[in-house]
Amino acid sequence: MRNEPSLDRDFPSLRSIIFWCILLLLSSPISVQIMAHPCDDTFEYDEDMCNDGSYELQSLPETEDLNGGNNYEDSLEVEEEKGDEVPQSDDIFEERNEAKEEVSYPQNIAGKIAGGKSEEHMRYNSDSPDADRYASRSDDSVQDYVLTEARLKEIRSKFLYWFFDKGGDNDEGDYQRDIQSLTPQIHKNFTFQLPFFGFGFNYARVSMNGYLEFSDPPPHYTYPLVFPIKDWPKKNDPSFIGIFFSKCRIGEIRPTDIDKRKPGVYFRVERDLQDRKDQFGVEMRERLKWDIREGVDGAEAFVPKHAIVVTWKNMSFTGGIDNSLYKTNTFQMVLATDEVNTYAMFNYVDIQWTSHTEAGGDTVNGEGGISAFVGFNAGNGTRSYEYKPYSQTPSIRDLTTKGCANGFPGRHIFKIDETIVPGTCKRDEGLRNEPTKLDIFCHSRFLTRLRVLNCTIVTSQNKLITV
Ligand SMILES: *[C@@H]1O[C@H](CO)[C@@H](O)[C@H](O)[C@H]1NC(C)=O
Ligand SMILES: *[C@@H]1O[C@H](CO)[C@@H](O)[C@H](O)[C@H]1NC(C)=O
Ligand SMILES: *[C@@H]1O[C@H](CO)[C@@H](O)[C@H](O)[C@H]1NC(C)=O
Ligand SMILES: *[C@@H]1O[C@H](CO)[C@@H](O)[C@H](O)[C@H]1NC(C)=O
Repeated sequence: MRNEPSLDRDFPSLRSIIFWCILLLLSSPISVQIMAHPCDDTFEYDEDMCNDGSYELQSLPETEDLNGGNNYEDSLEVEEEKGDEVPQSDDIFEERNEAKEEVSYPQNIAGKIAGGKSEEHMRYNSDSPDADRYASRSDDSVQDYVLTEARLKEIRSKFLYWFFDKGGDNDEGDYQRDIQSLTPQIHKNFTFQLPFFGFGFNYARVSMNGYLEFSDPPPHYTYPLVFPIKDWPKKNDPSFIGIFFSKCRIGEIRPTDIDKRKPGVYFRVERDLQDRKDQFGVEMRERLKWDIREGVDGAEAFVPKHAIVVTWKNMSFTGGIDNSLYKTNTFQMVLATDEVNTYAMFNYVDIQWTSHTEAGGDTVNGEGGISAFVGFNAGNGTRSYEYKPYSQTPSIRDLTTKGCANGFPGRHIFKIDETIVPGTCKRDEGLRNEPTKLDIFCHSRFLTRLRVLNCTIVTSQNKLITV
């Protein structure tokens, strides 16, 4: 009952009743929409939005700018009682805060992990907080698993996709022990095609240096990097997906760090998701399906067949002093494909340095010079896509706060099979459609000399707002 527009008005005309109904219709859902994904215009690089959790309530005039195409606004002048306060806004704040907490691994997990546990295998979904570190095994997975709404919501509220440093076949989970400074990349064969930028690949090389590569690079790079490589075909023009293309080395974690998973590169492939009945397979499919559907326009019918999750945890830069090993970046690439469409999700957790020393970064903090390259190169002198304004500029640090796909600051989604198309940064399909799916029921009655207007708005999520 925060909007009480009519109570202080004597006998409003039918016109004004309709006015208030339309105002309600206008103000509530649109404000909700703004609150729900404040970073809509990420690609226009709006400074005020999308900074860690502190959003300002938007008033309607600003709202209009952001919803330029909405025909309600053209026909109405909204002057009074702008309905900045929306019943749902608190819920949304709470949801976002929850999501933040998930990212910064809760304290009780820290305690348990720091306390040292036995090495015995655990189910990844067991109640033990340490279970986060154990890869599921096919022989202990629940078969014919039924995913509930509540469980889907829970797993989707976490920022990072699964990566494990224990369990699995070799008790190292997804950890890639072979990726070290002497062998900075390893070859992975897939049993399926991964369409990428007009080509199709059934393999990838996972590099310590923040990218997946499909063909050979030139012998040397000069900075800033320019793709496609100008001298192709004299020099190789590599095909790659670069989440943080820079010369990295594996960093260190501190004893006080909450997430105790080993620094380094993690790699996991999940195949044939459409037929999976085991718990992990079902959860991966449904989580990825909804994250992609809601994160990219035109992906409403997408069903992932195969998924690849690569995580670079606590990576430092080459050329730094010893102490710079504690300056680390953590980021994660999730690829989803149905062998026709391919999507790439980039999750940036933490960016503490921007440039390795060869690209002009200093040896202590890895700052200055030319920052890492973020983007995609098709290879063989064809096409490239550099992710601006972040790539090779100091703004690269903003990757952790911008993006906002699925409502997470730091999550960026792209469609990458034929051309590269950045996602829409919408939090929730339902909320996006809300203004067109409203039903409004009004009742008026007389209370002594006051006419009381009582309206109920039923939103597309069946939320009732009674005014
Ligand atoms: C990948 O497949 C190629 C041939 O298709 C084979 O030569 C190579 O050894 C395989 N690599 C790995 C790491 O399995
Ligand atoms: C290691 O990475 C985590 C995020 O995964 C971060 O919170 C932590 O501060 C990093 N540690 C160091 C020493 O940079
Ligand atoms: C580029 O050209 C080479 C040689 O013709 C070929 O083997 C490769 O598949 C092509 N595509 C990419 C993406 O490198
Ligand atoms: C609004 O009117 C409906 C129908 O008359 C009634 O059932 C409902 O209780 C009223 N709500 C309020 C808050 O007055």
